[in-house]
Amino acid sequence: MDLKAKINLDKLPSHVAVIMDGNGRWAKNHGKPRVFGHRNGVTSVREVTEAAAEIGIEYLTLYAFSTENWNRPKLEVNALMRLLVETIHKEIHTLNKNNIRLNAIGDISKLPEKTRKALVDGIHNTRHNDRMTLVLALNYSAKWEIIKAVKDIATRVGNGDLDPEAIDEDLFSDALSTKGIPNPELLIRTSGESRLSNFLLWQAAYTELYFTPVFWPDFRKGHFYQALIDFQERERRFGKISEQLIKS
Ligand code: FPP
Repeated sequence: MDLKAKINLDKLPSHVAVIMDGNGRWAKNHGKPRVFGHRNGVTSVREVTEAAAEIGIEYLTLYAFSTENWNRPKLEVNALMRLLVETIHKEIHTLNKNNIRLNAIGDISKLPEKTRKALVDGIHNTRHNDRMTLVLALNYSAKWEIIKAVKDIATRVGNGDLDPEAIDEDLFSDALSTKGIPNPELLIRTSGESRLSNFLLWQAAYTELYFTPVFWPDFRKGHFYQALIDFQERERRFGKISEQLIKS
Protein backbone atom coordinates (compact mmCIF):
# COMPACT_ATOMS: atom_id res chain seq x y z
CA MET A 1 0.00 0.00 0.00
CA ASP A 2 1.27 3.45 -0.77
CA LEU A 3 2.68 5.16 2.33
CA LYS A 4 0.82 8.42 1.85
CA ALA A 5 -2.55 6.61 1.85
CA LYS A 6 -1.74 5.18 5.30
CA ILE A 7 -1.65 8.65 6.87
CA ASN A 8 -4.73 9.73 8.84
CA LEU A 9 -5.34 13.30 7.69
CA ASP A 10 -7.41 14.03 10.81
CA LYS A 11 -4.49 13.26 13.09
CA LEU A 12 -1.70 15.25 11.52
CA PRO A 13 0.78 17.09 13.70
CA SER A 14 0.25 20.81 13.09
CA HIS A 15 3.97 21.52 13.50
CA VAL A 16 6.84 19.29 12.40
CA ALA A 17 10.44 20.28 13.18
CA VAL A 18 13.45 18.75 11.46
CA ILE A 19 17.14 18.57 12.33
CA MET A 20 18.66 18.09 8.89
CA ASP A 21 21.80 16.11 9.69
CA GLY A 22 24.32 14.04 7.80
CA ASN A 23 25.17 16.25 4.83
CA GLY A 24 28.91 16.05 5.53
CA ARG A 25 28.98 12.26 5.94
CA TRP A 26 26.82 11.80 2.84
CA ALA A 27 29.29 13.88 0.83
CA LYS A 28 32.25 11.95 2.25
CA ASN A 29 30.59 8.67 1.26
CA HIS A 30 30.39 10.05 -2.28
CA GLY A 31 34.05 11.12 -2.18
CA LYS A 32 33.05 14.81 -2.39
CA PRO A 33 33.62 17.94 -0.28
CA ARG A 34 31.12 18.65 2.52
CA VAL A 35 29.53 21.51 0.59
CA PHE A 36 28.37 18.98 -2.02
CA GLY A 37 26.28 17.42 0.75
CA HIS A 38 24.69 20.76 1.65
CA ARG A 39 23.89 21.43 -2.02
CA ASN A 40 22.16 18.07 -2.31
CA GLY A 41 20.44 18.75 0.99
CA VAL A 42 18.50 21.50 -0.74
CA THR A 43 16.70 18.86 -2.84
CA SER A 44 15.53 17.26 0.40
CA VAL A 45 14.41 20.65 1.73
CA ARG A 46 12.29 21.06 -1.40
CA GLU A 47 10.85 17.52 -1.15
CA VAL A 48 9.92 17.79 2.52
CA THR A 49 8.46 21.28 2.14
CA GLU A 50 6.33 20.07 -0.76
CA ALA A 51 5.25 16.89 1.05
CA ALA A 52 4.37 18.79 4.24
CA ALA A 53 2.34 21.45 2.41
CA GLU A 54 0.56 18.90 0.21
CA ILE A 55 -0.55 16.77 3.14
CA GLY A 56 -1.69 19.70 5.29
CA ILE A 57 1.02 20.41 7.89
CA GLU A 58 0.66 24.00 9.11
CA TYR A 59 4.21 24.67 10.32
CA LEU A 60 7.47 23.12 9.18
CA THR A 61 10.63 24.21 10.99
CA LEU A 62 14.02 23.31 9.56
CA TYR A 63 17.25 23.65 11.55
CA ALA A 64 19.44 25.18 8.84
CA PHE A 65 22.24 26.78 10.90
CA SER A 66 22.96 26.68 14.61
CA THR A 67 24.90 29.25 16.64
CA GLU A 68 27.51 26.49 17.09
CA ASN A 69 27.88 26.07 13.30
CA TRP A 70 29.99 29.27 13.16
CA ASN A 71 32.83 27.11 14.52
CA ARG A 72 33.01 25.18 11.24
CA PRO A 73 35.75 25.96 8.68
CA LYS A 74 35.20 29.45 7.23
CA LEU A 75 34.95 28.03 3.72
CA GLU A 76 32.01 25.81 4.72
CA VAL A 77 30.24 28.60 6.64
CA ASN A 78 30.58 30.96 3.67
CA ALA A 79 29.35 28.30 1.25
CA LEU A 80 26.32 27.61 3.47
CA MET A 81 25.48 31.33 3.66
CA ARG A 82 25.75 31.66 -0.12
CA LEU A 83 23.64 28.54 -0.59
CA LEU A 84 20.93 30.04 1.59
CA VAL A 85 20.82 33.23 -0.48
CA GLU A 86 20.77 31.24 -3.71
CA THR A 87 18.06 28.87 -2.47
CA ILE A 88 15.80 31.61 -1.11
CA HIS A 89 16.10 33.57 -4.38
CA LYS A 90 15.44 30.47 -6.45
CA GLU A 91 12.52 29.14 -4.40
CA ILE A 92 10.61 32.30 -3.54
CA HIS A 93 8.48 32.02 -6.67
CA THR A 94 7.57 28.40 -5.85
CA LEU A 95 6.78 29.32 -2.26
CA ASN A 96 4.36 31.99 -3.47
CA LYS A 97 2.85 29.73 -6.10
CA ASN A 98 2.17 27.15 -3.39
CA ASN A 99 0.88 29.70 -0.86
CA ILE A 100 3.72 29.00 1.61
CA ARG A 101 4.87 31.66 4.01
CA LEU A 102 8.55 31.95 4.96
CA ASN A 103 9.58 32.80 8.50
CA ALA A 104 12.76 32.56 10.56
CA ILE A 105 13.81 32.01 14.16
CA GLY A 106 17.27 32.80 15.52
CA ASP A 107 19.53 35.82 15.74
CA ILE A 108 19.35 36.82 12.11
CA SER A 109 20.93 40.21 12.84
CA LYS A 110 24.30 38.39 13.00
CA LEU A 111 24.00 36.80 9.54
CA PRO A 112 26.06 38.17 6.64
CA GLU A 113 24.19 41.12 5.12
CA LYS A 114 23.35 39.32 1.84
CA THR A 115 21.90 36.32 3.68
CA ARG A 116 19.96 38.49 6.11
CA LYS A 117 18.55 40.56 3.25
CA ALA A 118 17.50 37.52 1.18
CA LEU A 119 15.76 36.15 4.23
CA VAL A 120 14.03 39.39 5.26
CA ASP A 121 12.89 39.98 1.66
CA GLY A 122 11.67 36.39 1.39
CA ILE A 123 9.70 36.74 4.63
CA HIS A 124 8.22 40.03 3.44
CA ASN A 125 7.32 38.74 -0.03
CA THR A 126 5.48 35.68 1.31
CA ARG A 127 3.78 37.31 4.32
CA HIS A 128 0.24 36.95 2.92
CA ASN A 129 0.51 33.20 2.24
CA ASP A 130 -1.48 31.01 4.60
CA ARG A 131 -1.34 27.36 3.54
CA MET A 132 1.81 26.49 5.49
CA THR A 133 4.60 28.40 7.25
CA LEU A 134 8.14 27.29 6.55
CA VAL A 135 10.29 28.39 9.50
CA LEU A 136 14.05 28.42 8.98
CA ALA A 137 16.06 28.20 12.19
CA LEU A 138 19.11 30.28 11.33
CA ASN A 139 21.82 31.24 13.78
CA TYR A 140 19.44 29.65 16.24
CA SER A 141 20.06 27.89 19.51
CA ALA A 142 17.52 27.12 22.21
CA LYS A 143 19.80 28.30 25.01
CA TRP A 144 20.32 31.61 23.20
CA GLU A 145 16.58 32.22 22.89
CA ILE A 146 15.90 31.18 26.50
CA ILE A 147 18.56 33.58 27.81
CA LYS A 148 17.16 36.30 25.57
CA ALA A 149 13.64 35.66 26.88
CA VAL A 150 14.88 35.76 30.50
CA LYS A 151 16.63 39.10 29.84
CA ASP A 152 13.52 40.59 28.21
CA ILE A 153 11.29 39.46 31.07
CA ALA A 154 13.79 40.65 33.71
CA THR A 155 13.92 44.06 32.02
CA ARG A 156 10.12 44.34 32.11
CA VAL A 157 10.11 43.38 35.79
CA GLY A 158 12.95 45.84 36.47
CA ASN A 159 11.01 48.65 34.77
CA GLY A 160 7.99 47.88 36.89
CA ASP A 161 6.00 46.83 33.81
CA LEU A 162 5.58 43.22 34.88
CA ASP A 163 4.67 41.57 38.17
CA PRO A 164 6.93 38.49 38.65
CA GLU A 165 3.82 36.63 39.83
CA ALA A 166 2.38 37.05 36.33
CA ILE A 167 5.20 34.97 34.80
CA ASP A 168 3.74 31.69 33.63
CA GLU A 169 4.31 29.23 30.76
CA ASP A 170 2.29 31.31 28.29
CA LEU A 171 4.14 34.50 29.09
CA PHE A 172 7.48 32.73 28.79
CA SER A 173 6.47 31.08 25.47
CA ASP A 174 5.54 34.50 24.13
CA ALA A 175 9.03 35.78 24.94
CA LEU A 176 10.63 33.12 22.70
CA SER A 177 11.33 33.50 18.99
CA THR A 178 8.58 30.95 18.27
CA LYS A 179 5.88 33.29 19.66
CA GLY A 180 2.60 32.52 17.91
CA ILE A 181 3.82 29.17 16.58
CA PRO A 182 2.40 26.01 18.22
CA ASN A 183 4.89 23.64 19.84
CA PRO A 184 6.13 20.95 17.44
CA GLU A 185 4.31 17.66 17.94
CA LEU A 186 6.89 15.74 15.92
CA LEU A 187 10.63 16.30 15.62
CA ILE A 188 12.61 14.37 13.03
CA ARG A 189 16.39 14.01 13.12
CA THR A 190 18.23 12.34 10.27
CA SER A 191 21.62 10.60 10.08
CA GLY A 192 21.33 8.27 13.06
CA GLU A 193 22.13 10.83 15.77
CA SER A 194 19.73 10.80 18.74
CA ARG A 195 20.15 14.25 20.28
CA LEU A 196 18.29 17.56 20.38
CA SER A 197 21.51 19.58 19.94
CA ASN A 198 20.17 22.81 21.43
CA PHE A 199 17.08 22.86 19.20
CA LEU A 200 13.67 24.01 20.54
CA LEU A 201 14.42 22.79 24.08
CA TRP A 202 11.47 24.60 25.70
CA GLN A 203 9.06 23.88 22.84
CA ALA A 204 9.94 20.17 22.58
CA ALA A 205 8.96 19.32 26.18
CA TYR A 206 6.24 16.92 24.91
CA THR A 207 7.33 16.48 21.32
CA GLU A 208 7.50 12.99 19.83
CA LEU A 209 11.05 12.35 18.62
CA TYR A 210 11.72 10.39 15.44
CA PHE A 211 15.24 9.36 14.56
CA THR A 212 16.16 7.85 11.22
CA PRO A 213 19.55 6.62 9.97
CA VAL A 214 18.94 8.21 6.55
CA PHE A 215 21.37 11.05 5.74
CA TRP A 216 19.59 14.31 5.00
CA PRO A 217 20.49 14.48 1.26
CA ASP A 218 18.80 11.06 0.81
CA PHE A 219 15.64 12.06 2.72
CA ARG A 220 12.61 11.96 0.41
CA LYS A 221 8.83 12.31 0.66
CA GLY A 222 8.48 8.61 1.52
CA HIS A 223 10.75 9.03 4.56
CA PHE A 224 8.64 11.98 5.70
CA TYR A 225 5.43 9.97 5.32
CA GLN A 226 7.01 7.14 7.31
CA ALA A 227 7.77 9.56 10.17
CA LEU A 228 4.14 10.76 10.15
CA ILE A 229 2.86 7.16 10.22
CA ASP A 230 5.17 6.37 13.13
CA PHE A 231 3.92 9.50 14.95
CA GLN A 232 0.30 8.47 14.44
CA GLU A 233 0.95 5.01 15.86
CA ARG A 234 2.17 6.47 19.16
CA GLU A 235 -0.03 7.28 22.12
CA ARG A 236 0.56 10.79 23.42
CA ARG A 237 -0.30 10.80 27.13
CA PHE A 238 1.10 14.15 28.37
CA GLY A 239 1.69 12.64 31.83
CA LYS A 240 -1.72 10.96 32.03
CA ILE A 241 -2.48 7.24 31.91
CA SER A 242 -3.98 5.51 28.86
CA GLU A 243 -7.49 5.20 30.32
CA GLN A 244 -7.71 8.95 30.90
CA LEU A 245 -7.28 9.75 27.24
CA ILE A 246 -10.36 10.43 25.15
CA LYS A 247 -10.18 7.90 22.34
CA SER A 248 -11.13 9.17 18.92
C1 FPP B 1 23.90 19.22 8.90
O1 FPP B 1 24.73 18.26 8.28
C2 FPP B 1 23.44 20.25 7.99
C3 FPP B 1 23.64 21.60 8.14
C4 FPP B 1 24.40 22.17 9.27
C5 FPP B 1 23.13 22.55 7.15
C6 FPP B 1 21.79 22.29 6.54
C7 FPP B 1 21.64 23.13 5.36
C8 FPP B 1 21.06 22.78 4.17
C9 FPP B 1 20.41 21.48 3.94
C10 FPP B 1 21.11 23.70 3.03
C11 FPP B 1 20.23 24.86 2.92
C12 FPP B 1 18.98 24.88 3.66
C13 FPP B 1 17.91 25.65 3.38
C14 FPP B 1 16.77 25.67 4.33
C15 FPP B 1 17.77 26.50 2.18
P1 FPP B 1 26.25 18.15 8.76
O2 FPP B 1 27.05 19.07 7.92
O3 FPP B 1 26.32 18.41 10.22
O4 FPP B 1 26.56 16.67 8.43
P2 FPP B 1 27.58 15.70 9.23
O5 FPP B 1 27.01 15.54 10.60
O6 FPP B 1 27.54 14.45 8.43
O7 FPP B 1 28.91 16.36 9.24
